[in-house]
Parts: sequence; structure tokens; C-alpha cells
Amino acid sequence: MVLITPENRDETVELLTRLVGIGADFKLGDGVAQRRLNPHQVRDLLVTELPKEGREVDSVVRDLVRHILPLCNNEASPRFLGFGHTGADVAALAGGLLALFAQQNLINQSFAAPSATFTEIAVLRWLRDLLGYPNPLVGDVASVWDVGGVTTYGGTGSNAVAMLLARENAAPGTLHDGVREPERMHIVVPAGIGHYSVKSALEWIGVGGRIIEVPTRGYRYDLAALERILAENKGRIMSVVAYTGDSRTHTVENLRAVHDLTRAADPRIWLHSDACWGLMCAFTDELADKLDGIADFDSITVDPHKVMDIPYAMSALLVREPAALRMVSSYSDLIMQEDYAFGQVTPFIGTKEWSSLKLWAMMLAHGRDGLAEMMRKRLITTRTFAGLVDASPRLLRLNDPDMTAVVFLYLPEGADRARPDVERINAINKGIHQRILDEGRWHFHQFSLPDDTGRLAQDAVLHPLRFMGNNQRITEAHMRDALDYINGIGRQLETTQ
Ligand SMILES: Cc1ncc(COP(=O)(O)O)c(C=O)c1O
Repeated sequence: MVLITPENRDETVELLTRLVGIGADFKLGDGVAQRRLNPHQVRDLLVTELPKEGREVDSVVRDLVRHILPLCNNEASPRFLGFGHTGADVAALAGGLLALFAQQNLINQSFAAPSATFTEIAVLRWLRDLLGYPNPLVGDVASVWDVGGVTTYGGTGSNAVAMLLARENAAPGTLHDGVREPERMHIVVPAGIGHYSVKSALEWIGVGGRIIEVPTRGYRYDLAALERILAENKGRIMSVVAYTGDSRTHTVENLRAVHDLTRAADPRIWLHSDACWGLMCAFTDELADKLDGIADFDSITVDPHKVMDIPYAMSALLVREPAALRMVSSYSDLIMQEDYAFGQVTPFIGTKEWSSLKLWAMMLAHGRDGLAEMMRKRLITTRTFAGLVDASPRLLRLNDPDMTAVVFLYLPEGADRARPDVERINAINKGIHQRILDEGRWHFHQFSLPDDTGRLAQDAVLHPLRFMGNNQRITEAHMRDALDYINGIGRQLETTQ
């Protein structure tokens, strides 16, 4: 079997059907990993030479299923509690499978993606609509510059496009002429809670990592400090970045206030909101207020592969003024000089897979009501978990969840809350996380976080654990077991550290 042919069609379908079953069972598995090896062991098992002779596809598949899949983490497991990227939505899996077979290339519309281009446009319009960006009438969408967004392969890519737009907005023509005055190309971010991608983007686009960090309070900008820093740096700032859900606690920025302060300081500054997580707020009326002001930002990043149960990788950068994408468009007569060729408006991307079909299928299957119901359940799970943390004498919750992230610390017995030994507390929490990873039965996330709410030691850098309530398979029993497990490890480590 090399290519699929009429002769091997049935055999191919049988093989692929079997794999779909294996994939479904993998996702339905209860544990995080079936087998755990350290990185060097995995390296030595899998980094091999390419053999001279080929093998039967069946035998390759057997190796894959026996030796590689069991070492994979199952993010759809109800014990995978650090993130919620399940990739388990049935409609999204169906869309993804079909896209794999259809092999469309959205760099071009006419011969490479005649219908895919328009499902992608539909999805981008649905996302815009959820966030409050107005859409032109369908009949007025005459080119990719009337759509108001592009899909990318992740929040990092979307943020990079936003930074490119900010740069071009600050100094039109830089795309062609190169960077002339990088001193005018700083961006403002909240200190300690930002995502590295905007800084990396500045480095990639040649302006250097020109970040101005503003102190935060409660995981949002300290607005007085923001106002002062905007005034002090007049003429040096090309963009202010606001997190509609920061990477760690998913706290939603005070978007309206950030917008108003920025526009008052300098209306030419490009306002960008990273709503990789915050898109979730658009699903339900209960959280809609949190998005107040976002529709006045110049651009918004969303990451459906984080919050919509769709398989990797799919993100989008949306722009308030659709024509803004002209600022970063490229032209080539090779294959993309036509009205609906996305290749013209997708910086850094040439061949472009039909990644949005997963989201198209998911959104159609759920509808607005289904998205609201999905979010209602997630909020119940999150509140249940927060309640269990609060009821556990050794655990300290560090955030009041805006969405589905609960960040908490294990405190050793007798910890003096008035004068905490932050170093020891961090060491024990890092130890807990390492043990969780080593054992592979559960998953929680961990990162450094300033204690912005002062629940342990104001501004101290902490290393807490993070739960996320997105996966609908998580039951209260899972949450109780996971917390018992953490408390158990904590107690053991206390005696040794
Ligand atoms: C707030 C935020 N922005 C951007 C990103 C980058 O997204 P991706 O990993 O999809 O590139 C992340 C990833 O965690 C994030 O949390």
C-alpha cells in the first residue's frame, strides 16, 4: 500500500477505521499516561535511523499503537486537570478528519480551496460576532480584506501578526523599508503575568524586545501606573496589550478602562487584546460583561484550540477594521493574486491547512445555546473545585476565577501565615508538581506567579498549582481524589524538606 487506490480502498478504510477506534479509546482512557519513561529513555527508544527497507503499513501502525501512543499524554482524561485542551468534541474531530482527507490549501481560493475559503470566512465572522466586532453584509465580502481576520496555528502566531500590525500602524511602510526608529516601537504589558509570545514577536519582527512592564494588582494593570507610564513614554509606544484572561489565572483585564486610558494618552497606539482564553466569556451572558470594551480594541487574538475542545492547532487574529490587514499583506502573482486568496493576508504562512473546519463543525453542532450550556457546566466544575480547595485546611487559593482557572498552593503544617517561609512553600509545591509529572496519573499545571492578591505574601513570586475546569468529564469525585493526592504528597514532602 503506498497511495490509496481503488484496489486497496477497502483495506485502507479498514485500517483507518481501526485507528479511529484506537484514537477514541485513547481519548476515553481514564489516566493521563499509560506508560511513563524519562525523556532520555523515550529518546533512546524513538530516535532511530531510517531503515533502508520499507515496511507494511500495518506493521508501522502496530508500532505506533503499541509503543508510542501509550507514552502520549491524554489531555482529554478527566485526570488531566492543568489545561482543558481536550480536542474531544465529536463534531470537531469529524471536521478535522474530513479536512485531512480533503487536502485543501487556503493560500489560494480558486483552484486550491474553492469552498474551504468560505467556511473559513464564515468561522471568522462567527468569532467576530461573538466578541462584538461588526461584520459587513455577506454580499459586501468581496475580498479577504473584507473579512476582518485570519486563522493561524496558535496564539503565538496570532499575537505575532498583531505586533506586525502595530509596527506598521506606528510607522507605515516598515514592511518594505525595514525598521528605522525602533525606539518608537515599545509595547506595554502587565508585569509578571504576560505571555512570552508578544515579546518573542517583537524580536521576530526586528524591533527588539522593547517591553515596558506596568505593575499589576489582582492580576490586572494597576490603572494609575498604566496612566503614568503612558504619559512618561509618549511617542515611544506602538501597542498596549491587555489580557482577556492571562495565561496563569485567566483574570480578565479591565478592558474598558485600559482602552479609555490608552486612547486618551495617544489615540494612535494599537490596542491589542490577547483573548486566547477570554473567548470563553463570549459563550454565556453570565460572563459577557467582562468583555465590555473589547470591541473597541484594534485587534483580538483568540485560541479555539484552548477553549473549544477542538484538536490542535487553530487560532485567529481578528481586526476591528477589516481593511487594516492591507498593512501586512504580501503580493505574488504565483498563486495568490485573487480576491479571496488568504495567502495574501497571512504573514509567516504559505501553504495553509483547513484548520478552521474543526471549529466550523463544532460551532454549528453546538450553536449559541450549546456554547452557553458548555460554559455553564464549566463554571459549575470550577466553582466546585474552588470550594473544595477552600475547604481543605492545607490549601490556599490565590485567585478568584473569572473563568475556569483555579490557582492554589499547598501550605505545610504550621505555616506561619503572618510571616510565611515562601522559599520552603515554593520548594514543596515544586516537589508536588514534579511528583505528579513523574507518576503520570494526574496532571496539574505549574508556573511562577507574583502574589498579586496578597493572599500569602504580597508580590512574592510563588510556584502554585493550576486547575482548569473545562473538561466535562471531570466529576466531583475526580476533584476530591486529586486534592487528596496532592495533600498526601505534600504531607510526605513536608517531612523531608
Ligand atoms: C494568553 C496566551 N497567549 C498566547 C498563548 C500562545 O498560544 P499558542 O500556544 O496557541 O501559540 C498562550 C498559551 O498558553 C496564552 O496563554
